[in-house]
Amino acid sequence: MYEFAIAWEWLALAVRWLHVITAIAWIGSSFYFIALDLGLVKRDHMPAGVYGEEWQVHGGGFYHVQKYLVAPASMPQHLTWFKWEAYTTWLSGFAMLCVVYYGGADLFLIDRHVLDIAPWQAISLSLLSLTVGWIFYDQLCKSPLGKHLWGLMIMLYIALVAMAWGYTQIFTGRAAFLHLGAFTATIMSANVFFIIMPNQRVVVADLIAGRIPDPKYGMIAKQRSLHNNYLTLPVIFFMLSNHYPLAFATAYNWIIAALVFLMGVTIRHWFNTTHARKGRPTWTWLATALIFIVIVWLSTVQKPPAEATTAVAAANLRFSQNPHFGAARDIVQSRCSMCHAAEPVWEGVNRPPKNVTLEDDAEIAAHAREIYIQAGRSHAMPPGNVTEVTPQERQLLTAWFESAVAGEGKTQ
Ligand code: HEC
Repeated sequence: MYEFAIAWEWLALAVRWLHVITAIAWIGSSFYFIALDLGLVKRDHMPAGVYGEEWQVHGGGFYHVQKYLVAPASMPQHLTWFKWEAYTTWLSGFAMLCVVYYGGADLFLIDRHVLDIAPWQAISLSLLSLTVGWIFYDQLCKSPLGKHLWGLMIMLYIALVAMAWGYTQIFTGRAAFLHLGAFTATIMSANVFFIIMPNQRVVVADLIAGRIPDPKYGMIAKQRSLHNNYLTLPVIFFMLSNHYPLAFATAYNWIIAALVFLMGVTIRHWFNTTHARKGRPTWTWLATALIFIVIVWLSTVQKPPAEATTAVAAANLRFSQNPHFGAARDIVQSRCSMCHAAEPVWEGVNRPPKNVTLEDDAEIAAHAREIYIQAGRSHAMPPGNVTEVTPQERQLLTAWFESAVAGEGKTQ
């Protein structure tokens, strides 16, 4: 079925193309309106209901923009809405998540060294996290805490860091970063879909009916826009990061993610302040550079390797020098190594299960306790006893471990 492979590849490209285009349109218009909003100036004798205005020059002409807060006295004849940029970005992004990560779950979503789950479980966790994330965020904004700008921001930050850690405990580092981006972007799109747009529709309905709109709708939308503003840059980082293994596939990747969210704030803060004509806070660039250097350094820090792989480690000599070792090793090599190898030969097993390799003396000695538990004292291994380990063999594995441990007790 080579046709399928080709069609799939092109589908992936088409969806990615669409996603990048819509994301540029969304982020572009959102940045434009943020800057416009912050740059509004008040002057005397502005028309009734106008909050501020701004002059701009672009494309061979001058623009004179006025912002009404909450709304003009009557419904304008033509009204341009900005919503499809956000919706199509989310929809195309979700399509890409399906094509790349759900379609290729075994390769890209699941890391059996992290968590050994089936594709359907991984996909369910992915969908669940995106949905629950939005509900949690939305409730937080609507709770009493939502009235405290900084309290809410700090809570949101803690939630994002917790998600960063959580995703790295479930998925591959690559999928963890991508999901952190998708998690954040889902909140941003849902803000547009569930909060900002419905509120604007209420205001428009009021205008048409000749009522004066309640300013609270504008306030709520403003809060969500502010969050979207600070979350944009980290999302782009996470979406691009899957090309950079040092970011997502190193030991402290979740701390790196936590710092990326901070960089998003420090960078945006400079632009927000500048557009509001409140000076140019250079310290934000200094802070950004510092955080970036810490990220680079973090990516080079390695966790100590879990176990010795070449020579039998001194601590495990008691197992390899035990008189039962030869027989135990023969059992393990004939009943377990077909799956528990760097390159398993058992059909359907593509990686050493749970990262347990049982090929040479050193590996077998290092896993003595697990072998004892999984195959000696219990018959958890091999699964379904597919390689037909006999009761006598289990007894021997038990005797090997128990005598080695007991022998050590005597010599001490
Ligand atoms: C058919 C392939 C296969 C064979 C043969 C096999 N295993 Fe496994 N082993 C697995 C799989 C799959 C897992 C992961 C199980 C899970 O995630 O629940 C596993 C997990 C393990 C673990 C880690 C358990 C844990 O939860 O940390 C140990 C230890 C282990 N096997 C030992 C053995 C021993 C000892 C033998 C031989 C007696 C053996 N296995 C034979 C497939 C195999």
